[in-house]
Amino acid sequence: MTNDVPVIAIDGPAASGKGTIAIALAEDLGWHRLDSGLLYRTVAYVIDQWNLDYSDPETIQDHIRNFLSFSVGENPPNADSHKQIEFPKVSVHVQIQRLTGSKVWYNAQEITPVLRSEHISRLSSYAARIPTLRNELIPIQRELRQPPGLVAEGRDMGTVLFPTADLKIFLTADVAVRAQRRFDQYAKDRKQTYEEILEDLRERDRQDMHRGIAPLKKAEDAIEIDCTYLSVKCVVEKVLQAVPAALKVA
Ligand code: DC
Repeated sequence: MTNDVPVIAIDGPAASGKGTIAIALAEDLGWHRLDSGLLYRTVAYVIDQWNLDYSDPETIQDHIRNFLSFSVGENPPNADSHKQIEFPKVSVHVQIQRLTGSKVWYNAQEITPVLRSEHISRLSSYAARIPTLRNELIPIQRELRQPPGLVAEGRDMGTVLFPTADLKIFLTADVAVRAQRRFDQYAKDRKQTYEEILEDLRERDRQDMHRGIAPLKKAEDAIEIDCTYLSVKCVVEKVLQAVPAALKVA
């Protein structure tokens, strides 16, 4: 990781459109993209698989540190490399892809779609409140600051992970509008009513904003964009307009 590599940090609540904006920016700039929420989802998945108790963060921490190995790379894991990891170590491989987003393998099995489920969404909010676990994930995230640049999205990108980011965006939107967008997004495969999605988002907002460590908040030097009444295209244009000045290029 080098501090010379430019970073755009995008933070905001669940379903505010950070992912879509980050993909559009990474595509436009040809940069890497960090979907930090996926790491918390991965850890929540592992805690669930191992049946660990959220009221016992020390045991969770021990397991994550001793039995889980993260690797990050461009390519899917090779099955042989997994065999070399001694039982009971479980390996998680995060594949970084600029445009389509990251994919995650748990041992040699891809688990990305499962990580997007409502069950894991809810659990990841609990996992994200464990301080030692957040600290474990810091170096993995910073490792992704690679040339030519990084678009990083999450809750604490501008405040904790990349405080010297060249450009910081704080994306907000009314919770009812976010719930409606999520409801429309899952039109084909909908498992929750609008009201259930709304209640879930309210609960996750509460947890993300009021936790003791790295709470969701706007960095002092972030540009706040309220996209309640803006289309994604309009937000991407707004952010792209801010990029040249932030990167000091003509
Ligand atoms: O962005 P997301 O919905 O995929 O994030 C999943 C959970 O992880 C969410 O409840 C908040 C948490 N999270 C976090 O605490 N810090 C981050 N940088 C990213 C996500």
